[in-house]
Amino acid sequence: MNPGTPVKILKEIQQSLKKITISAIKEIKNIDNISELNNFKSKYLGKNSLVFFYFKKLNTIYSLERIKCGKILNSFKRDFQKIITKKKQKIKNNLLNSKNNEFFLDSSLPGRRVERGSVHPINLVISQIQDIFHYWGFLTYSGPELENKYYNFDSLNIPKNHPSRSINDTFWLDPNFVLRTQTSSVQIRILEKYSYPIKAIVPGKVYRRDYDNTHTPMFHQIEGLIVDKSISFSNLKWILENFIIKILQKNVKVRFRSSYFPFTCPSAEMDIQNKSGDWLEILGCGMVHPNVLKNFDIDCNVYSACAFGVGVERIAMLKYGISDIRCFFENDIRFLKQFV
Ligand code: DAH
Repeated sequence: MNPGTPVKILKEIQQSLKKITISAIKEIKNIDNISELNNFKSKYLGKNSLVFFYFKKLNTIYSLERIKCGKILNSFKRDFQKIITKKKQKIKNNLLNSKNNEFFLDSSLPGRRVERGSVHPINLVISQIQDIFHYWGFLTYSGPELENKYYNFDSLNIPKNHPSRSINDTFWLDPNFVLRTQTSSVQIRILEKYSYPIKAIVPGKVYRRDYDNTHTPMFHQIEGLIVDKSISFSNLKWILENFIIKILQKNVKVRFRSSYFPFTCPSAEMDIQNKSGDWLEILGCGMVHPNVLKNFDIDCNVYSACAFGVGVERIAMLKYGISDIRCFFENDIRFLKQFV
């Protein structure tokens, strides 16, 4: 082999790589996407590149010079590769950051699993109760939670000195407005607005200053009101007895205990017997008091009215065997998931 040739080649390689580097640096500056970058890479390092050509030529070179040329070519290749990798990262970052690609969607990514929510147990029980009453021809009504004292107390024949009006029991917002303490207030709103006969249920939130394992400051009630010709206490009794069997889905022993509510006369409370034989109070009811009806143009010789008020949490606790009412409002996902 001609000993002059390798020296020539070494110089040739050095000069070529210099030239290539200059033009490559210029070129890479203008590249802004991955496919152009891939073309660029194969142009300078691929099978048709000058670098590849010199690598092949190494075999024909005298061994000492071959090592020198090999080192130069390899370090060129390494540096070039680094530049390409850096550029690739830059293009990717630009793609993500660029304003135009704010909503860039990588459709190859796996989808995010969307967990299905579930109806809150209280709403579940409310809708089950509604279903039962709707089947019997009742309609659902609603009223405001922020209530005038007239609807919450006065019109319901509740005396001015009744303890339920005290600030210890009721959230007063000002001298005239309260957070309603009972859905019975909506009885009056319905009587004012609708003509008879009426079969109404009113589910809703009520508020009282109470907090322990069977009381929360906010809870739910369902009020019932029937105004029709010759409605009697036995109609009320039948409805409530059958309601409780349907909602609890089992035959339970019930009893009606004489009680007192200012807006009903006679008044009663309904109790149900639990497994251990104890009686649990479940709702209040009665025939609507004449003092309540007198404000309305109802012919009491023809029409009569009865009403009832059920605590929804109480029913839900019995139905699902829950001992602490606060479970309903803590939003513990492990509790709520049981009702999916
Ligand atoms: N409003 C009563 C309460 O919150 C419940 C009640 C009792 C409602 C008797 C009625 C009724 O409609 O007739 O304790």
